[in-house]
Amino acid sequence: MPFTSTTDPSVAARALAGGHLAVLPTETVYGLGALASSPPAVARVFATKGRPADHPLIAHVLDAAAAEAWAQDVSDYTRALMEEFWPGPLTLVFQRSTRAADYITGGQNSVAVRVPGSPVTRAVLRELSSLLGDRATAIAAPSANRFGRVSPTTAQHAIEELGDALTDEDVVLDAGPCSVGLESTIVDCTGDLPRILRPGKVTGEDIERVTGMRLGGTSTVRAPGTLDAHYSPHALVTIVDEVVLSSASPDPATGVIAMSGSPTPPGVVRLCAPTSVEEYAACLYRALREADSLQLTKVLAVAPDGEGLATAIRDRLQRAAAG
Ligand code: TXA
Ligand code: MG
Repeated sequence: MPFTSTTDPSVAARALAGGHLAVLPTETVYGLGALASSPPAVARVFATKGRPADHPLIAHVLDAAAAEAWAQDVSDYTRALMEEFWPGPLTLVFQRSTRAADYITGGQNSVAVRVPGSPVTRAVLRELSSLLGDRATAIAAPSANRFGRVSPTTAQHAIEELGDALTDEDVVLDAGPCSVGLESTIVDCTGDLPRILRPGKVTGEDIERVTGMRLGGTSTVRAPGTLDAHYSPHALVTIVDEVVLSSASPDPATGVIAMSGSPTPPGVVRLCAPTSVEEYAACLYRALREADSLQLTKVLAVAPDGEGLATAIRDRLQRAAAG
């Protein structure tokens, strides 16, 4: 194996402290982490993913106090969000402090920060902070997939994406499948009102409830990677309704993603049949990957109805379909 595979957070923390990369389990998706204060380590993240240099990275930190070291002019509504949803699947975009160098922010004056909820990744952050004697230490980590492809929700999926580009000093930290399965909600907190840049498990309703504010309209902050064709498998994804699904022609190269209440038409491959939107989010990326590993050419997906997490699932399906 060209990399070190482990379930021990200390092994990942030591690799990161030494300037190596670590594939890390978060509650959303697996990330490809580097010590944020190391320009060469962060440069390897971009090279490994094939990601353009102007696409900024999320700084993952231990807690809200650490996040504030990366930010300036943090507003009251932002603090309310930090308090309510951290640790958890929410990324906040702040005005950056001097810690957030151009090689993290892609030259933008803002920085995206998140306190992950996964206990294993929190253990890595705790140990890394103590190794470096800096409580505001950050791990810069995008999702551990090649640029534009589906985010990994298991360590094995991350290895399939990036394993070839890792060295024996890099680490893959395995903590089983991600519980959420979709990337964090990103909220731009640089303006008078919060604005959602990427929908996720923390919903617009949640944000309005906690801040007591209405969401702002279109953000002027650039969030590259939230553009159209992203999260794409090789198979052609089409979003269909129940009627179209039920009349699909038998074809062993067609896959179906739909809630368990939607019957599978004869002669096609059922990729997942979640019984709730939470389960839908958690199985979507695995199902898209399975379509590719089964060499299916088409995927028919019935999107879930409703607000909240269903909005995030529809967003990812639309991007997968645009790819
Ligand atoms: O759940 C997640 O957020 C996962 C896990 C690993 O934490 N990470 C993730 O990272 O999805 P990534 O790099 O694949 O997506 C981060 C998104 C990108 O679309 C990027 O453009 C946006 O965050 N972003 C990062 N910094 C930003 C900034 N300063 N302003 C606006 N958008 C930013
Ligand atoms: Mg990504």
